[in-house]
Amino acid sequence: MQLFLDSASLKDVREGMGLGLVDGVTTNPSLIAKERDASRPADARRHYRERLKEICALCPGPISAETVGTTATEMMREAEEYAAIAENIVVKVVLTAEGLRAVRECAARGIRTNVTLCFSATQALLAARAGADYVSPFVGRVDDVSGDGMALIRDIATIFENYNFATHILVASVRHPRHVLEAALIGADVATAPLAILKQLLAHPLTDKGVAAFLKDWEGA
Ligand code: E4P
Repeated sequence: MQLFLDSASLKDVREGMGLGLVDGVTTNPSLIAKERDASRPADARRHYRERLKEICALCPGPISAETVGTTATEMMREAEEYAAIAENIVVKVVLTAEGLRAVRECAARGIRTNVTLCFSATQALLAARAGADYVSPFVGRVDDVSGDGMALIRDIATIFENYNFATHILVASVRHPRHVLEAALIGADVATAPLAILKQLLAHPLTDKGVAAFLKDWEGA
């Protein structure tokens, strides 16, 4: 299972890469907005392109860049622009009829896609049929409205297995390590999470306690 970092922060990418925890990065308009300097009303599009270029230079894995257009034509314009930044760019489009139209067009042009804002298994089925490379079901947001995010992942996994779809399941909107654990037990291809959660996967108080005890005994021997 691959782990992606869900962040547009260069500091996070550097730290996550340094820890060996990051195989790829996902960004979205909300994450990039957090990174903009509010005192300098820069051109948002240019800022996003520059940030993507920097992230691609730090991480050789798939880097998701999200389009904000609402028509397939607008999305394709952005897709071409992002794909030209680096070979590891994956273009993110929302799960709408226009988004799926853009996915088909991207597939025909050899541009990889990640279909985002997926909240049902039938939506995932349509994304796979359109030729998406990744589909991103948002488990946390499903749980937030009293749904069962992991049941959604199980359903999508069954459908993709039934029909041998090559589309990767990218578990998104991860809120805690258990989401990653359950995604791994189901066999999802990727989970994307903020750095704090990736670090939680590594840490255990009993490991820290054990290391401290071993060192103490060794020094006292
Ligand atoms: C990643 O691709 C998604 O945009 C992200 O995981 C959404 O997470 P959120 O629901 O915490 O905003």
